[in-house]
Amino acid sequence: MKSTVTAAAIRKKYLDFYKAREHAQIASGSLQPENDPTVLFTTAGMHPLVPYLMGAPHPLGKRLVNSQKCVRTQDIDEVGDNWHCTFFEMLGNWSLGNYFKKEAITWTHEFITKELGFDQGQLAVTVFGGDENTPGDDTSYNIWLGIGYPKERIFRLGRKDNFWGPVGNAGPCGPDSETFFVTRDYCTKNDPNCSPACNCGRYVEICNNVFMEYNKHADGTFTKLPQPNVDFGMGLLRVASIMSGASSVYESDIYTKAMTYLKQTAPGLSATSQRIVADHLQAALFTIADGVTPSNVGAGYIVRRVLRRAFRLANQASLDAQYIDAIVDSFIEVYSCHYDDLLKKRDAIVHEIRDEEQKFAKALGQGLKHFEKELTRLAAGETVIAGQLAFFMFETYGFPLEVTQEIAKERGLSVDSEAFEKAYAEHQAKSRVGGEKLFKGGLSDSSQETTRLHTATHLLHEALRRVLGTHVEQKGSNITPERLRFDFSHSEKMTKEQVEAVEKLVNEAIAKSHEVHLENMTVDQAKARGAIGLFEDRYADRINVYFIGDYSTEICGGPHVANTRELGQFKIQKEEASSRGVRRIKAILVSPAAG
Ligand code: ALA
Repeated sequence: MKSTVTAAAIRKKYLDFYKAREHAQIASGSLQPENDPTVLFTTAGMHPLVPYLMGAPHPLGKRLVNSQKCVRTQDIDEVGDNWHCTFFEMLGNWSLGNYFKKEAITWTHEFITKELGFDQGQLAVTVFGGDENTPGDDTSYNIWLGIGYPKERIFRLGRKDNFWGPVGNAGPCGPDSETFFVTRDYCTKNDPNCSPACNCGRYVEICNNVFMEYNKHADGTFTKLPQPNVDFGMGLLRVASIMSGASSVYESDIYTKAMTYLKQTAPGLSATSQRIVADHLQAALFTIADGVTPSNVGAGYIVRRVLRRAFRLANQASLDAQYIDAIVDSFIEVYSCHYDDLLKKRDAIVHEIRDEEQKFAKALGQGLKHFEKELTRLAAGETVIAGQLAFFMFETYGFPLEVTQEIAKERGLSVDSEAFEKAYAEHQAKSRVGGEKLFKGGLSDSSQETTRLHTATHLLHEALRRVLGTHVEQKGSNITPERLRFDFSHSEKMTKEQVEAVEKLVNEAIAKSHEVHLENMTVDQAKARGAIGLFEDRYADRINVYFIGDYSTEICGGPHVANTRELGQFKIQKEEASSRGVRRIKAILVSPAAG
């Protein structure tokens, strides 16, 4: 195709098309998932709609349409190839228990051929072929056939290719039917079974209709949803690129200005590196706009990683500091027609990015020097850099793994990333802040029970300081759904009276129905407001602080209950020695209060 239509025009056409078919337009949800502690970012248009796909009535009705901001980091190594970006927009429409396969497929076909002008002869589709868990989708097969697709361009594929979701390990999901643009009529791998499942680049996905009929449970079983839904998704950038005849998303109009700027000012950077700089700044722009700032924890750590990777490449190309403004502005220019908060937030976003750049700039030079020195110690013929060194670079100089990997690659070396991940996981487990990240990442249990016990731990920490003195500091914490365990600095066995006094303070705080709320602030601000908790995380310059009414202020990554009245009654079961100078308390919550 060779169309000059812009991404903004496609977005508008799409929204108009579905609005004309009685879909209510909804705003893009935030990139920070609001009710899902198991994932760091919103990864698909359906993500903010999970409660409605599960059956809750949506205030705007049963047919919805929008363009959703998404961030996917699992493909981050592929960013810079032709089709992957960290940030992208997904055009989406939904039927919440309303129309189903017939309308969904017919409208998809009509939109892409009539509105966008795709030639049906250059399209192929897939449907779910079925397996032992769920049957094949003959209905969709027949609908495509009825529209006029020849059998050899309707592929029946398996679960890996044609079953979508859930996000995380549980939630709504179902068989899907995808539409592909056929870029050429042969397979470069000469695979006689070449299909959209082949990665030779012959088929590029345009869009996907998920027939969301199932709820997958954490134990791996499926049940039927109360209503069958349609969840449609189409990558805006991809479509814009294919339509303009480009062979990559980086040639679409969204990227034109940023890429031209980088080609002119950083000609020494490889095309892939130029793309990475543009993509990563784009991702940082949108995540920061949605309130995620660079840190060493959770989503903030992803923002830090993409930024530092971009900074290192920019530094390598000796770009002057203006590149941040130039690239951010190039994206704001093409997106602000739809995302009107960007212009307002522009200065704050640039400020945040520059701030992070300055932090990293200090460490970059020293870090590179150290790294070069270490390389001279590599044994002759050794091409793999130890995970320990990569971890040292992270811990001491704030080099994300990707940065160390890239520097290594430029010298024909690789990094033992598995060993890095292991050292990193150990480090995270040791620091409580890191522990919270695992918690947030869904790796540990995040049930209502552990959340309640977690809030109780804050109350306990504060009560211990009030009863025993401010020398009390947290030394460790472990929470299961049944009980909390809290280690703290104190050298003597607590008296019975002290134990009772602590218990009483905690229960009084619970009874006061304190609201729990979170604020993100700098380390200095947190200290000024009297927050307790671990301050030694050297790269987490903005931190989350949880306030429990006026009773407790503590640095923490959450999650917590909204109000202490949800806790019920607090009971200390045991007070014992843990190690020299450290005591341990085990406690439970009994009979949670109603509500
Ligand atoms: N949720 C579906 C996808 O991401 C539409 O492909």
